[in-house]
Parts: sequence; structure tokens; C-alpha cells
Amino acid sequence: EKLVLNGTLIDRGEASVDIEDRGYQFGDGIYEVVRVYGGRLFTSEMHLKRLYQSAEKLSLHIPYTMEQLTAQLEALVAANRLDTGIVYLQFTRGVAKRKHHFPETSETTFVAYTSEMERPLEKMRKGVKAVLAEDIRWLRCDIKSLNLLGNVLAKQKAVENGAYEAIQHRGETVTEGSSSNVFIVKDGVLLTHPATNLILNGITRQVVFGICGKEGIPFREEPFTVADLRAADEVLMTSTTSEIMPIVDIDGKPVADGTPGAITLKLQQAFDREIH
Ligand code: PDD
Repeated sequence: EKLVLNGTLIDRGEASVDIEDRGYQFGDGIYEVVRVYGGRLFTSEMHLKRLYQSAEKLSLHIPYTMEQLTAQLEALVAANRLDTGIVYLQFTRGVAKRKHHFPETSETTFVAYTSEMERPLEKMRKGVKAVLAEDIRWLRCDIKSLNLLGNVLAKQKAVENGAYEAIQHRGETVTEGSSSNVFIVKDGVLLTHPATNLILNGITRQVVFGICGKEGIPFREEPFTVADLRAADEVLMTSTTSEIMPIVDIDGKPVADGTPGAITLKLQQAFDREIH
């Protein structure tokens, strides 16, 4: 098993983290998770574009062009003979004596590795349970930063309640899942929170908008409430790893009739065509 450390392909066992890496001490860094289907990176350009945007928002320097980065990720996938899985990549502000402010000099630490991961086909067919969780995260959820404690606590609540995902809300407004975007269908229209500072603008979310355009499914980026969620005809979540996942139970109560809805199914079928 190989990984990429600062531009070099090495054995996984040979990589190490400095105790004063700012990613390790402060969560001072950013990451991406890119899907690999049939040995090929899926929507990697969109992921890398978002990576550069996250970097810009934190004044973090990425010392590679998009083409150089893509080439490194492709070489990694090939070296590990990965067919279906993910590439995880992260950049931190590097190693420096521990002080909160940015160090005068430090080079970013770049790590990328692969992990085998099957598509969650069974769950996608049956749907999954979710719980509600107050969104206690900071106000820059648009940045895909390594600071994930709010997300970790939300997902833990889901797991402790036998659920797959936590649907976060700020007061009455539903924002997003702990590691996914959340949509509802009401009267044939797909709704999801707009891409503001309160959510991560998911790549799968954007793929769904593209599908809606092609399939003639009406959608709006518009906030909706917890009450709207409970009264929805369909609820679904999207993410790189979970794809388009029906949510059929929230806090122990069924969503509509408790089975995946027609629009969700249509989105799944179109998504399937996108990745093949
Ligand atoms: N999570 N919102 C949050 C908070 C996320 O962490 C993610 C992704 C998404 C969906 O984004 P995308 O469709 O680009 O994967 C939304 C990744 C997969 C993770 O942390 O593992």
C-alpha cells in the first residue's frame, strides 16, 4: 500500500506525522474525499476546485497546479490498484513551533492515501434512519477544514441511536448532515439549503442539480424548516461516499410511507448512469 507524502509516492508504513504539525495541533488544514469508480477518479476537477477555494479562504498555499495534483492522485490510485473506493487528501499549514497565529515560514504538509470502499447499494435501496441534532458548528462550514468536532459529535449521536446520519439544524432551519447534504421533496419540488457559509457546497449536491436540469426535476436552493422536514414527501442525503441516500425514518418516525420516494429513485438511476 502506497501513499503520497509531499509529492512522493512512499510505503504507507514509512509516513510519519510531526508532533508540531499544525494539522495535528490546531486542525489547521483542509481536505477532500474523492470517489474512485472502476479505477477512475469521479468529479475530481470539482473536488480540486473546492480544495483550492478552501485553501484560499484560509490563506493556505498549495504548491501544485490542478494538473500536478491530479497526476499525483492518478498515480496513487494506479499504484494501489484501487478499483472501487476513495482517495483522501489533505493539506495542513505544516510544521512550526506551537503558536496560534500563522508561522512566518512553514511548508504545507500534503498527504493522500486510498481506501477500498464499496458502493452502499443495499442501504441506497432500502433507505436509512436519521436523527436530528442541533448544529453547533462554527460559521464557516463552507470551508472543508480539518476541524470536524461538531460533525463528529453529531455523527456520534446518530450512531448511539442506531441511525446512519444526523440531520443538523440551526434553530428551526435545517442546514446539512454531519457529513452530507440534506434535501427534501415537497409537492414534486426538490429543496436544499443554499450554498452559504452554513453548509459545505457538496460535489454530489452539485451533481444532483445537474441531473435535475437534464431530467426536468424542479429544484430550489432555499432553506427549509424542521417542520418542513417532518412533513416532507421524500428526504434524502448526498455525499461522495453515500451517493444519493434515501432517509426513510427521522427520530423513529417514518418519512411519508417509510420507503424511498419516486424522485429519489429517479436521481439514483441518473447518478448510476453518470458513474458508468
Ligand atoms: N463529507 N457536508 C459535509 C459537512 C460533509 O463533510 C460532506 C462530505 C458533504 C458532502 O459533500 P460531497 O458531496 O462533496 O462529498 C456535505 C466527506 C465525504 C467526508 O467528510 O467524508
